[in-house]
Amino acid sequence: MRHFQKKIFFIAVFMLMMISGCNPPQPVFSLDEMPFIPLPLSLAPSHEVISVDAIQSIRTVGADEQLLLMAQNFKIFWKKHTEKELIFSDNTTDNDHAVTLKIVNDFSTQHEAYKLKIASDEILVEGKTAEGVFRGLKTLEQLVVISKLHGKINFLSLPGGEITDQPTYAYRGAMLDVARHFFSVADVKRYIDLLSIYKINFLHFHLSDDQGWRIEIKSLPKLTEIGGQTEVGGGNGGFYTQEDFKELVKYAADRFITIVPEIDLPGHTNAALASYAELNCDGKAKALYTGIKVGFSSLCIDKEVTYDFVDNVIREISEISPGPYFHIGGDESLVTPEEDYNRFMDRTLAIVKKHNKIPMGWYELITADIPDETLLQYWAKTEDFSKVIPKNTKILISAASYNYLDMKYDSITTLGLFWAGYLPVKKAYDWDPKTLIPDLDSKQIIGLEAPLWSETIEDFDDITYMAFPRIIGHAEIGWTDSSHRKWEDYANRLSFHGRLLEALKVKFYSTNEINWK
Ligand code: ACM
Repeated sequence: MRHFQKKIFFIAVFMLMMISGCNPPQPVFSLDEMPFIPLPLSLAPSHEVISVDAIQSIRTVGADEQLLLMAQNFKIFWKKHTEKELIFSDNTTDNDHAVTLKIVNDFSTQHEAYKLKIASDEILVEGKTAEGVFRGLKTLEQLVVISKLHGKINFLSLPGGEITDQPTYAYRGAMLDVARHFFSVADVKRYIDLLSIYKINFLHFHLSDDQGWRIEIKSLPKLTEIGGQTEVGGGNGGFYTQEDFKELVKYAADRFITIVPEIDLPGHTNAALASYAELNCDGKAKALYTGIKVGFSSLCIDKEVTYDFVDNVIREISEISPGPYFHIGGDESLVTPEEDYNRFMDRTLAIVKKHNKIPMGWYELITADIPDETLLQYWAKTEDFSKVIPKNTKILISAASYNYLDMKYDSITTLGLFWAGYLPVKKAYDWDPKTLIPDLDSKQIIGLEAPLWSETIEDFDDITYMAFPRIIGHAEIGWTDSSHRKWEDYANRLSFHGRLLEALKVKFYSTNEINWK
């Protein structure tokens, strides 16, 4: 707009406000038209409207450390998006002109449940727990950011009404393979920030593989001195010190994301076998490996030193992982005979238990004698799995042809692999974990997780290009009941999220399946 036209425009907007008695301008969307992802359980719009100018303070009800941290972060968010400073209020009774964060214990049976109420002079976020309040704040943040990015004028107002919400699945995860290529602490933090926007609550770290060992083990320093020094393609690799790892665990926990550490055993272990000669049956260290083949390595099942190694690794990582799970891999141990594999797993499962963690493993673990509490991660072959579905274990769905973010979108995607087929955005969204595996009792499904294997993924832009927007769809599958999900409706809502990703400088695949707004 030229200067003169701009001036006329603002005078017109100002006069309109005067005529309407300073009512805030109509919001861009009513509450029930707002393109939230994940779609909340219930949205009840009202006729009220709140101008961001009407909000002046933020307060927490209940002296909860986590609420205070959230309030501080929300203050920063508000300043960034509205240019207005919120003051902290310790007034516990008067909520006028405030954003209130409040824990209400008898609110719901679900710990992530929340209510978000927007009236003409206050905003209330109530949760069963601090985690519930956090999920509600993320909904409020989407409301602010998307209204701002899609608004036509400079005055920001929000639609009134009430949202009550809770997730369908308890586990809504992402997995990052930091072994095939290594990613810095800063990259992982940025990924965590993006995941938290969409209410993802677990980040599984694939910390070891043939090409690299990525976490410091103090009693076994050569794992990182030797095994951490390269990656696919021969680059420099890298590893997290235990201090780095603790920093990531804390950063994720502040965003209510639980880190799940994985050490892949007994296959996918070339980096360990290159670091310590004694782990090999012939006592000779393997050469480091920088290719992308799988299924060629195995720990030596009959050597006692193998179990000392497993015990030290699981102990040290468990000590710095407050989450409930320890993932022991177990996939594609193609050169370990089945009987040896099962013997190895019996001992390794006992070691996980000794260190007070719940064992988690890829579905190949079904051949071993797994304790009932084991969490099995289903990934590929429905036929194998359907034959022996364990009845008492929980199942996490990571189906390669629906969840694997390293599968190419289509024939022109330059990154990624293709062995489970192309995975366009519609296919990644338009399915139901409950009906994927014949004969699996849907009550066994704890949720879903989207792995990003990194054979072809080298930097942060590569991560986000393959993850976004498909992982947004996975986040909605995990949160919103399948009876409320329709592709056309989701595609319309997603079309408003491109600008949100652009504003965050996130490189994503702007597929022509979506009519981006
Ligand atoms: C896997 O994709 N090998 C779990």
